[in-house]
Amino acid sequence: MLAARTCSYFPARTLQLKDHASHVRLLQRLSSAASLVASRTYASQTDQGNKAVLITGCDSGFGFSLAKNLHDKGFTIFAGCLLKNKGDAGVKELDDMKSDRMKTVQLNVVNQEEIDRALEIIKENLVDPDKGLWGVVNNAGISTFGEVEFTSMDTYKEVAEVNLWGTVRVTKACLPLIRRAKGRVVNISSMLGRMANPARSPYCITKFGVEAFSDCLRYEMHPMGVKVSVVEPGNFIAATSLYSPERIKAIADKMWNELPEIVKNDYGRKYFDEKIARMHTYCNSGSTDTSPVINSVSHALTATTPYTRYHPMDYYWWLRMQIMTHMPGAISDKIYIH
Ligand SMILES: NC(=O)c1ccc[n+]([C@@H]2O[C@H](COP(=O)([O-])OP(=O)(O)OC[C@H]3O[C@@H](n4cnc5c(N)ncnc54)[C@H](OP(=O)(O)O)[C@@H]3O)[C@@H](O)[C@H]2O)c1
Repeated sequence: MLAARTCSYFPARTLQLKDHASHVRLLQRLSSAASLVASRTYASQTDQGNKAVLITGCDSGFGFSLAKNLHDKGFTIFAGCLLKNKGDAGVKELDDMKSDRMKTVQLNVVNQEEIDRALEIIKENLVDPDKGLWGVVNNAGISTFGEVEFTSMDTYKEVAEVNLWGTVRVTKACLPLIRRAKGRVVNISSMLGRMANPARSPYCITKFGVEAFSDCLRYEMHPMGVKVSVVEPGNFIAATSLYSPERIKAIADKMWNELPEIVKNDYGRKYFDEKIARMHTYCNSGSTDTSPVINSVSHALTATTPYTRYHPMDYYWWLRMQIMTHMPGAISDKIYIH
């Protein structure tokens, strides 16, 4: 793991060890990279005084808990809520805190006008707008499932609009303020943004996209002093509203009804029902303790040297992710897929 991280500091050409001088240069770089890794510590933190953070998707789940947790740590929170205008229960609870440092804002990440309006509200409420906004946490997301042949193009586009293009839209809108603060961008991806899974393509491709976007942005922002981190949660479905048995049933009914006849006939109802049953089982298996995710985001916002990637997940998924991302496909497919 350390070796993998350490090696990522080097351009590929440094690994062509043709002569003695190349070896020496590699060793020198290895030792400076090792001290870089060692210097990343949970003890070294930035000061929260007057720092403000925008979090998207605060109506429920991680976003809701993050808003409260980061507020308790002293941050000013702009809590983007999809259903603020509809008086959702989560929004009401955040508003009922009656804190000057907790401001809910209407924010559908698919809607550019709502994003622009939210940014206006943020600028009006920052103590010193010239010093910018410390952080944005792109958390808003939706999920679905289904084999490639079961998934309509509308579904692919709908999930990408929120998870991927929503993240890009909100980030672009916030960057001028974040750059002024030399602040942080924290994108909530998923373990499914690193390793794919059968029947999850509409979700996986959006999270792989979030990973690529985050890497490009991290490279570009480094000279500006802005740090970009990705949080890749494992399975916390039992703790959030991403799926419920009712939602799985609603998705399955719609999917079956809209399937082309040839797909229905070729796969058959039994195959389809077995896949839906497997999805129900998966959704009942997640962790109910979201604190690893909350702590990861908090570290990414507060540590002087935040990590590039955070992996809040249980050992099973952590090991599976390592094997699927580091071993040859023939081996990892055999272990986990076939
Ligand atoms: N739970 C897990 O196991 C897990 C694992 C890996 C990654 N994640 C990621 O974690 C993030 C948070 O999800 P969660 O698990 O906390 O699920 P969640 O409870 O459903 O939270 C997602 C939030 O995003 C909001 N949202 C949906 N569409 C939106 C839009 N167009 N604009 C703004 N907000 C929108 C939802 O609002 P409504 O409640 O009003 O619909 C909800 O508040 C997502 O990016 C998800 O992909 C979750």
